[in-house]
Amino acid sequence: MDHKQENNNYPLILKGTVIWSDENRRYQIVPGGYLIGEAGICQGVFETLPDEYKGIPVQDYQDQLIIPGMTDLHVHAPQYGSRGFGMDLELLEWLNTYTFPEEAKYKELEYAQKGYSVFVNDLVQSPTTRACIFATIHKEATLLLMDLLEESGLVTYTGKVNMDRNSPDFLCEKDVQTALEETIQWIVESRNRYQNTMPILTPRFVPSCSDELMRGIRDIMEEYKLPVQSHLSENRNEIAWVHELCPNTACYGEAYDQFDLFGSKDPAIMAHCVHSGLRERKLMKERGTYIAHCPQSNLNLASGIAPVRTYLEENQKIGLGTDVAGGANLSLFRAATDAIQMSKMYYCYVDSKKAPLTMEEAFYLATRGGGSFFGRVGYFEKGCELDALVLSEQEIPTPKVLSVEERLERIFYLAEKTAVAHKFVRGKQLY
Ligand code: GUN
Ligand code: FE
Repeated sequence: MDHKQENNNYPLILKGTVIWSDENRRYQIVPGGYLIGEAGICQGVFETLPDEYKGIPVQDYQDQLIIPGMTDLHVHAPQYGSRGFGMDLELLEWLNTYTFPEEAKYKELEYAQKGYSVFVNDLVQSPTTRACIFATIHKEATLLLMDLLEESGLVTYTGKVNMDRNSPDFLCEKDVQTALEETIQWIVESRNRYQNTMPILTPRFVPSCSDELMRGIRDIMEEYKLPVQSHLSENRNEIAWVHELCPNTACYGEAYDQFDLFGSKDPAIMAHCVHSGLRERKLMKERGTYIAHCPQSNLNLASGIAPVRTYLEENQKIGLGTDVAGGANLSLFRAATDAIQMSKMYYCYVDSKKAPLTMEEAFYLATRGGGSFFGRVGYFEKGCELDALVLSEQEIPTPKVLSVEERLERIFYLAEKTAVAHKFVRGKQLY
């Protein structure tokens, strides 16, 4: 690299084999392309350098692949230390046995500092440039996480979790009043403090949130105009429990929608949607609800196989989530290939009319699909925010001559950390 672009007021010109998804989920590929950004905004990809940019230094990456930054639509920061073990239980038992006791430790700022530093450092090294993150119920530790995220240069939504029922004493809001007051304090503080780190309302899931708490969250949403993130139709026992708790709703989604927390007013992301039936899918479509598809977590916790092909056919809003620690891997390379693999199982065992995802579709989900939650992000057209990754295959040599598509697919399947050589967020180079 000959020039490190520090200042996003000066045009950024990256040269390499540039790849992104068009709106039909097909690759656009420009070998030897010039990807140009000004003030963090993409000006387009050009086969030859336009005259007005002549004389400006070019960061020439030769034939290395340059792709959009990726979006993780669903990840739990305090569960990062619990990745890769304790996969022997299903969701509800897993939460009570492993997850809640661990999250309770984040009351202590010293522990939170340690856990969140490791998480943020690894997130920076991963292919992710944007993420929607769950913290814990603790306001101060959530702000600490947000400080670290702001410093990292990534662009994120982070939520202080709300939970006030069916929760252990050691991980439960004191009462609704206190929960809502603290949530408001957290929103006000974070709005004053950050540029790239935004608050998102985070009722954990229906079993954890009383009606009174949900109503309070709706009022906050209306006053502060904030998006919402939660969990939906992940596990069969969970769904049966929601049905008991909310007898007047026809599907799990309605249990959020009755409080306007399903995307009818401000945008909402629902993680999992493994078992969403016709009625729920229709509601998601009407409300523009985002689906965070978390294939590895759905496998690890034996939750099931989400009908991703159906979601694509229905033109639902959908991206990928790692759902750490339900998922063990923070890399969206992995989430994308996990999505393909799970869709093959769906095709084999559930419905042979639902074709497996293609690599192009998985790439779309990881970049443009999830990126759209953040606006015009995750592809390279004029006017998009410029998040880009320069990829390296140095650590995965092969004697074979591969096409661009094959090289990209291999990088995803091998999911080596070293594949992300350089990262740009909003036109600013992080490394
Ligand atoms: N549902 C409610 N909380 C959680 C969580 O932490 N992880 C997963 N996978 N599902 C949830
Ligand atoms: Fe989750």
